[in-house]
Amino acid sequence: MESKTIKKIGVLTSGGDAPGMNAAIRAVVRAGFYYNLEVYGIYRGYEGMINDDIRKMDSRSIAHVLERGGTFLKSARSQEFRTPEGRKKAYDNLRKHGIDALVVIGGDGSLTGAHLFYKEYGIPAVGLPGTIDNDLFGTDLTIGFDTACNTAIEAIDKIRDTATSHDRLFFIEVMGRDAGFIAINAGIGSAAAAILIPEKKMPVESLIERLKSREKAKKESNIVIVAEGGKSGGAAEIAEKVQKILPTYDIKVTILGHLQRGGAPSAFDRTLASKLGVSAVEGLLQGKYDVMVGVINNKVVFTPIKRAIVDDKKVDEEELRIAAILST
Ligand code: F6P
Repeated sequence: MESKTIKKIGVLTSGGDAPGMNAAIRAVVRAGFYYNLEVYGIYRGYEGMINDDIRKMDSRSIAHVLERGGTFLKSARSQEFRTPEGRKKAYDNLRKHGIDALVVIGGDGSLTGAHLFYKEYGIPAVGLPGTIDNDLFGTDLTIGFDTACNTAIEAIDKIRDTATSHDRLFFIEVMGRDAGFIAINAGIGSAAAAILIPEKKMPVESLIERLKSREKAKKESNIVIVAEGGKSGGAAEIAEKVQKILPTYDIKVTILGHLQRGGAPSAFDRTLASKLGVSAVEGLLQGKYDVMVGVINNKVVFTPIKRAIVDDKKVDEEELRIAAILST
């Protein structure tokens, strides 16, 4: 599709919130003003587009948001936008406000929505990878991942104190849906005895062997990190299996859950979000549509949204190797 003249852009956050989303919105709004565009905030993701919850942003709208977790535009996982009728309503509302282009901040579901919308209605969109899961192809890291890993590690350190005091084995479940990125990073950063992820199955027998050899090495505490949705089951399920085989072990389970989604974004996430927010606006003005903007080897890169959502982002085998060496 040929380049359009863009005067008004809409920005929205969609799907699971991630620390750094506010920094990304701020960067989009500020870059928009810098390039003399009107910027509209669309509330609750695609829901706000359908229900016309769209408000013009001014410089006050983005005051003191950079350092805050969550998303002040709010977020939702819109079911209605998955239907042609929902998307038609959304399109009519964008027309009503004269919005020519979109910046969509979210994970794969949100970017899928932007791609479909572009295909059906030709609304130029640039996606920003905003998810703690880090599971998007086309960027080394997603906005929110670094903060979520820091939060997880801080929590695991605290659990380590009590685990050591009682000589306990803890199974700690971290988020990541179908991806083991948080688990690997938090596991390496917290000296985990083992890391169980959806991408690689670890038989219970191997886990037992690992725990026994650590017992021989007189390790005082054992933390096993389990990514939710792992092939071997969730933390509670695995803990139960292990308890049956090792009845004398004092085992506890902690699910970190949504704790990992909140909190002030790290310095890294603030910078990443700011860089990507400005690049998204510049991309739109250069006629880069239906793409996701990410960072690969420290360079800003635009990847077709279709690839970002379909291509598989692989876990780093080298990190897995390092984790295995360090946990013996
Ligand atoms: O995609 C981010 C994420 O936090 C996943 O890690 C997790 O599986 C999911 O969202 C939880 O979603 P919800 O907050 O809708 O329960």
